[in-house]
Amino acid sequence: MRIDIISAVPELLKGPLDHSIVGRARKSKKVEIVVHDLRSHTTDKHGKVDDYPFGGGAGLVMTPQPVFDCIGSLKKERSYDAVIFPTPDAPVLDQQTVNKLSLLGNIIILCGHYKGIDQRIRDELITLEVSIGDYVLSGGELPAMILVDSMVRLLPGVLGDAESALDDSHQDGLLSAPVYTRPAKFRGLNVPAVLTSGNHEKVRLWREEKALQRTREIRPDLYRKIINKSN
Ligand code: ADE
Repeated sequence: MRIDIISAVPELLKGPLDHSIVGRARKSKKVEIVVHDLRSHTTDKHGKVDDYPFGGGAGLVMTPQPVFDCIGSLKKERSYDAVIFPTPDAPVLDQQTVNKLSLLGNIIILCGHYKGIDQRIRDELITLEVSIGDYVLSGGELPAMILVDSMVRLLPGVLGDAESALDDSHQDGLLSAPVYTRPAKFRGLNVPAVLTSGNHEKVRLWREEKALQRTREIRPDLYRKIINKSN
């Protein structure tokens, strides 16, 4: 997979892309991630990539020219399966969408900034819009990193067996069961006995029950979906 990220504040992307699982996946060539500074594509002599909204209103809007030029030059090099724009006015990202996206070859992620981006960019260039939740951030860089992290951890060979994504919360529509590690007794708090029993079937059943219980308590919306599916 190759991911091209376009941003007017590329410095914001450095930490999350260079460390931990995403950083390791890049080093071992499981994913290629290239960051493009939008400012280097503007023809504005002051380096501007934003302007006042027509019709008035607060905030600045990202102008079309640098974005069209940047995406145009990338498309000359290779074809892209998706051009994604993280934005709060879009369907909320879920695990199923992430699973599908992780199977794509080349994608572009455009990080918006300021108050929004010129609608013509969305109409002409963007193929998928995703929100990371019903709240507003100052820019698309953090949502882009969330998208990248959630996809990259699913790529073949990125997670070891011990870190397998298969039993992640949300992979089967349920939240995960609680997990514990050594010591078995800590400040008088004991790990549930079943987990140290060595009985794999009992452990499996316990986890299944806890996952259902947690989902019912914390995310009744997800629980109802699971129950409706099984009926
Ligand atoms: N940009 C600003 N807020 C966002 C959100 N909630 N999701 C995706 N992109 C955003």
